[in-house]
Amino acid sequence: MTFQVLPSLLAADFGALAHDISRAAASGADALHLDVMDAHFVPNLSFGPDVVALSRKVEPAFYRHVHLMMTRPDRYLEKFAAAGAQTIQIHVEADCDIHAGLARIRALGLRPALVLNPETPADAVFPYLGECDELLVMTVHPGYGGQAFIADCLPKIAALRRRAPELDIMVDGGVNAETAVLAARAGANQFVAGSYLFKMADMGPAVSALRASCAAAYLKN
Ligand code: DX5
Ligand code: ZN
Repeated sequence: MTFQVLPSLLAADFGALAHDISRAAASGADALHLDVMDAHFVPNLSFGPDVVALSRKVEPAFYRHVHLMMTRPDRYLEKFAAAGAQTIQIHVEADCDIHAGLARIRALGLRPALVLNPETPADAVFPYLGECDELLVMTVHPGYGGQAFIADCLPKIAALRRRAPELDIMVDGGVNAETAVLAARAGANQFVAGSYLFKMADMGPAVSALRASCAAAYLKN
């Protein structure tokens, strides 16, 4: 199992996006997490494919995970692929054909991933486990950075890990040094952190420490 730390660009300084993309890349983080919000699936707007393209232009070698918090992600897959997305994450609660969406992401040459909101039970994704490479368990209600980690989601992570031992399981929302370890104990191996990392002048040591402590804590209860 590999352990990854992904800074969420939502917490960056939008007046200095290019600089903050480079800061995240220089930290030794494994990938950049890009949060796309449509003001319909979630009560907020963030950014679209242009910011994904900016991150590719500024740091071409820095892997791009694109989290689509959209009611109709299926209408935008080609646009995000063209902008440089490498993993595309769609919500199982989205209003589209999930089988077709995941297949389309793979046909575009990208890694398909499926996301569950905090109130969505683990079994909602069971029909799709053979069609995605990664699961993303939201540990806040999506829409905003800086919220508190919902520990009630931990049993769901454990249930998904038992059911899908080979899949990457990511957590997103309220992740910091303490909550990441709780998620790793439950079976998560990828950790998105926005406000926790971007508020640091140098996020490098925190990225390394998070990865090491999660690897040590993984499935150790
Ligand atoms: C929430 C987003 C998250 C967010 C996490 O809707 O999906 O990726 O940026 O922010 P923090 O780490 O500050 O909770
Ligand atoms: Zn996210």
